[in-house]
Amino acid sequence: MSTAIPPWARALLLADRVLHSSARFAALVRTELLLAGLSAEQREAVNAAVFSAEDTYAPGGPTFEHGLFAWERAALATAPFPASGRVLLGGAGGGRELAGLSALGYEVTAFEPAPALAHALAAVASRHPGSRAVCASYADLARAARGGGGPLAAMLGAPFDAVVLGWASLSHLTDAAARTALLAALPAVAPGAPVLLSYLGPDDDGRANGRVERLRSPLRRGLALALGRAAAAPGEGFQPGAGFYQRFSAGEIEALAAAAGYEAALHEREPYPHAILAPRSERSGGA
Ligand SMILES: C[S@@+](CC[C@H](N)C(=O)[O-])C[C@H]1O[C@@H](n2cnc3c(N)ncnc32)[C@H](O)[C@@H]1O
Repeated sequence: MSTAIPPWARALLLADRVLHSSARFAALVRTELLLAGLSAEQREAVNAAVFSAEDTYAPGGPTFEHGLFAWERAALATAPFPASGRVLLGGAGGGRELAGLSALGYEVTAFEPAPALAHALAAVASRHPGSRAVCASYADLARAARGGGGPLAAMLGAPFDAVVLGWASLSHLTDAAARTALLAALPAVAPGAPVLLSYLGPDDDGRANGRVERLRSPLRRGLALALGRAAAAPGEGFQPGAGFYQRFSAGEIEALAAAAGYEAALHEREPYPHAILAPRSERSGGA
C-alpha cells in the first residue's frame, strides 16, 4: 500500500514549483531583453560594472585567494609556453593570475577593464617588481596594436614572450568582430609567442527546466524582429554575476585561432576549457 502525501505537502511542493518556474521565466526574459536591447559598447559597459562589483576576484576574495588553478599551472608548464619571460595578461581581474605568474618568475604586464578590479590589480602589481597594470580592455589592445594610442600604447614596448587571456575573459567578448580584432592584434604585440586562453564551453547554465527554456528561442526571434536587429547568436547569454558572455565549442575556438594564423598546441575541455595557441609558422613552418 502506498503512503498518501498530505494535501498541505502537495500544496507546498506545487507552490515551490510555481515560484521556481516564475523565477526562471523572469531570468530568461531579463536575459533576452538585455541581449536584444543593448549595443556591443553598452554590453561592455554593463560587463565592466558587473565585474567591478565582484570582489571575489580581488585580494581577500575567494577566487583571488585560490591562486592559480591546477589546470593553469599545468598549461604554464607545457611547451610552447616559455618557462620565463615577459607575459601580457588581459582580462586580469584583481590580479590572481598576475600574482601567480609573478611567483613563477614571469614579468607581467596586465590590464583589466572593470575599474574597481583594475584598481585592485594595480595594487597587486605594485607588490611584484617587474609587473605593471593598467585599466584597459581587449578593444584597447587592438587599438594600441594598430598604433591608435589609448591606455595600453605605452605598455607595448618590447615584444612579449607569451600572452595569457585571463580566465574565461575571451568569453566576455560577445561581438564576433571584437574577437577577430583581438586575435589579429596578438601577433603584432607578441610575435611568435604562444597564447594561453580559456573559455566557457558549450554546456548550458544548468537550465534544466525544459518548459521554461523552450520559450527562449521564440522570444529571442520575436525581440529581434520587433527591434529590427539580428537575433543574439546561439551560446550568447547573460548572468548577473558574470555579465554578457559567449559559449564556444572547441571547434569554434580552433576556427577563431586558425583565422588569425594560430593553431592549438594544447586544447583541453576538462576541468575547464582552455588552449595554448601557437603561431602556425612557429610549429609547422608556415604551412
Ligand atoms: C571570470 S573573470 C576572471 C578575472 C581574472 N582573470 C581571474 O581569473 O581572477 C573575467 C574577466 O574578464 C574581464 N573582461 C570582460 N570583458 C573584457 C574585455 N572586453 N576586455 C578585457 N577583459 C574583459 C572581466 O572584467 C573579468 O575581470
